[in-house]
Amino acid sequence: MRILGISAHYHDSAAALVEDGVPICAVEEERLTRRKNDAAFPLEAIAWCLDHAGVQPEQLDAVVFYEKPMLKFERILTMALRAYPRSWASFPRAMKNELGNKLWVKGTIASELGVPSSRILFTEHHQAHAAAAFFASPTRRAAILTADGVGEWATLSLGRGWIDDDGSASIELRRELRFPHSLGMLYSTFTAYLGFPVNEGEYQVMGLAAYGKPAFSDQVRRMVRRTPDGAFALDLSYFEFHEGARRSFSDRLVAELGPPRHPWDPIDPGTAEGARYADVAASVQLVLEEILVDLARSLHRETGLEDLCYGGGVALNGCANARILRESGFRNLYVPSAPGDAGCALGAALYADRLHFRQRHRAVPDHPYWGPEIDANDLARLAGEDGLEVEQRAREVDLIGSVVDELAAGRIVGWMQGCTELGPRALGNRSILAAPHDAAMRDELNRRIKYREEFRPFAPAVPIEHAERFFELPPGGARLGRFMSGVFPVRREWRARLAAVTHVNETARVQTVERAMAPRFHALLEAYGARTGVPVLLNTSFNLAGEPIVNRAIEGYSTFLRSGLDVLVAGNALVRKRRRVSAKPEEAVG
Ligand SMILES: [Fe+2]
Repeated sequence: MRILGISAHYHDSAAALVEDGVPICAVEEERLTRRKNDAAFPLEAIAWCLDHAGVQPEQLDAVVFYEKPMLKFERILTMALRAYPRSWASFPRAMKNELGNKLWVKGTIASELGVPSSRILFTEHHQAHAAAAFFASPTRRAAILTADGVGEWATLSLGRGWIDDDGSASIELRRELRFPHSLGMLYSTFTAYLGFPVNEGEYQVMGLAAYGKPAFSDQVRRMVRRTPDGAFALDLSYFEFHEGARRSFSDRLVAELGPPRHPWDPIDPGTAEGARYADVAASVQLVLEEILVDLARSLHRETGLEDLCYGGGVALNGCANARILRESGFRNLYVPSAPGDAGCALGAALYADRLHFRQRHRAVPDHPYWGPEIDANDLARLAGEDGLEVEQRAREVDLIGSVVDELAAGRIVGWMQGCTELGPRALGNRSILAAPHDAAMRDELNRRIKYREEFRPFAPAVPIEHAERFFELPPGGARLGRFMSGVFPVRREWRARLAAVTHVNETARVQTVERAMAPRFHALLEAYGARTGVPVLLNTSFNLAGEPIVNRAIEGYSTFLRSGLDVLVAGNALVRKRRRVSAKPEEAVG
């Protein structure tokens, strides 16, 4: 049975193909169209998935869309009517931008793919999040928590999933919170207030929070009233997003917290204004964590289960994830590599397979590498055309030796291996790597390649068997770090030696690398450790500011040429930048 899952028309469109219960491939549309956060109907991603699997559209047993358009329409119409007449101006915009495409999605799928409408199915949005989190995890019995901005109505759901001995699967979402009461919208509102782009700038809020103190937490708690059942309700007098206004927060929120930051204003936590922004970020981060920990705790008490599968865009908040793991009582916390809407393409397909068609559960390979595979020959050809010397290393040990030489000498390496990651994080297949030791390297990376704000930290990668030596991991922390889903303290004695990846509050969003999941990346880390005594590398996504993560060799090569990368590796091919300065004129070929 072949099932194609699709997410589209909100943020990060994606497609995924599941065959006989096992994912074959999945990719975000942006990686192929090269438009960051591409939300269009994912024609390229679908075409690639079908082509990769050698499947014709008519061979698909089902195409599953990751939410129910009519329910979403009902929500937008209801909210517009509730806020009438203030909302009326924005309603046509919402219809056109957010919803128009989705309402006709069945027609789009039928016409673009030539699939009869009887084979087109819809999951509820949080069912897709739940399935992505539960079915891709290695557990057979778990509590489930999903939290995002909003899908149709639900913004948060709590339940459980289980797989019986005969392989039949169940997901039961027992409770939900409904729009406009939403943790994702709360955090996005503060993202906008702090002058960052919504749906992208949430990482900046989390990074900035480390510079502040939660001095406004009482004010934020007033905006998010807790309810006796451990949930919450937003005090809507502080918010305007639910009324379709152009601004998501109200004058009352500004009266409590002070003027919002203009996106173009620089942030310097050393100034009074910058410190206030950092305090606001720390405050909303704290309140978010408190609510999530309480919800997870109550879910743990209620289910008595050891494992929690957690999905939805809020699950990208690694600081909150670490607290959930430490404080909720769950032994394991499983967050998929793509907990946000892109992962719903895979979640929707798995949901339909297990719960609509009642197929037996089959274990989902436990890795994030579902996209197109790198071709070393492409890099060799491109670099060769430009007259650059290409070193093809037949033996992996030689390739790794050369890369370790470069990293140990302080050079910055673009590293492309295997298949592209599904999800927003580079996990060693489309990564920029560098030595993690000196803060100067962080500044160098920002100056030459990433151009990020100083308050956004870079992440370390470490072989999972060495992780405890460098980082203070709670039980289950190494597992949570597999897809870089948790932020943990760097051990005191290593902070000076890991300065480029240690955030201002002495934490790091560590990736714990398993040999079985990423053998070549693991071997590189081990070899770097053998050389330097510290098997840790700085690992940041391989892209320039404003661009999607690279996918094919040509994008890596173009990024290499346009940035301060010193070395580019694709598969077993290695290219070095020409050195422009040389003592001997005949060597100055650049
Ligand atoms: Fe979502």
